[in-house]
Amino acid sequence: MNSRISVEELYGEVWADDSPALTAELEQSLNPRGTNWLFEAFAELGPRPGQLLVDVGARDAAHTIRLVREHGLRAIALDPVKLHVELARRAVAEAGVEVDVLEAGIEAMPLGDDVADWIWCRDVLVHVDVERGFAECARILRPGGQMFTYVTCSTETLEPREASRLFDALAIVPESTQPDVIESCAADAGLTLVSKTELGGEWRERMLEDGTWSAGDDLLQLSRLRRRGTDLGSPRVAAYAAARIWGVYQLLGKTCPTVYVWTSSA
Ligand SMILES: C[S@@+](CC[C@H](N)C(=O)[O-])C[C@H]1O[C@@H](n2cnc3c(N)ncnc32)[C@H](O)[C@@H]1O
Repeated sequence: MNSRISVEELYGEVWADDSPALTAELEQSLNPRGTNWLFEAFAELGPRPGQLLVDVGARDAAHTIRLVREHGLRAIALDPVKLHVELARRAVAEAGVEVDVLEAGIEAMPLGDDVADWIWCRDVLVHVDVERGFAECARILRPGGQMFTYVTCSTETLEPREASRLFDALAIVPESTQPDVIESCAADAGLTLVSKTELGGEWRERMLEDGTWSAGDDLLQLSRLRRRGTDLGSPRVAAYAAARIWGVYQLLGKTCPTVYVWTSSA
């Protein structure tokens, strides 16, 4: 339970100095994992040349192409958005790799039963009905095959109005950000949990430490959006603002990017 501080205690004691010891501690990196860690974690699972990987929600197939090159896998890249299918086909042709690109969503994949050795599903589950999605993934995975998933989960500090603004703007299904819903739907589909890794703010810390992302720039743009009186109700502006908030919420612990690995026992 938080106890309420008194003014005397705050100014006379707590803020009487600048907590130099705590500041010094927080200036030390906690060696956060970066986005490349996802590929290292996948490699540790031991994919073998010739095995079939299905990248569900592949966007431009950049990750599919990388995984094919790194592990000699065969791959299928799926995405329901026509623009992404075109981008993926172009990227695959330019890369000169053999990847089938299909226009399809996780809910109905035009693939046979038990065909996939691996499912790679990065940053997609929040957009989908996870009950249907997991059922389809379990159907296409061969027994012993594994589903490798990165998903941004909500935490209890994400307040309901913050959640609905963020989710409405980014086409997110609220329940599909809830770890208990994700985990129970996966189990109901016959998938067995192998590991769960909560990354929290690690990727964003890494980006800040490397200078590849600026939380300050995102916050500055958000403030300018508000002060200019820009209509936040327009879908384009709402999505723009939500994308600026996305990384900041990870740092604040309102969302928790999480990596799950499941195996199919069916
Ligand atoms: C945030 S992007 C992630 C793309 C890519 N996996 C990555 O990590 O860069 C979300 C992707 O999910 C796709 N998507 C949305 N709804 C989907 C569905 N029902 N089934 C499969 N993919 C979907 C979108 O088209 C988009 O490419």
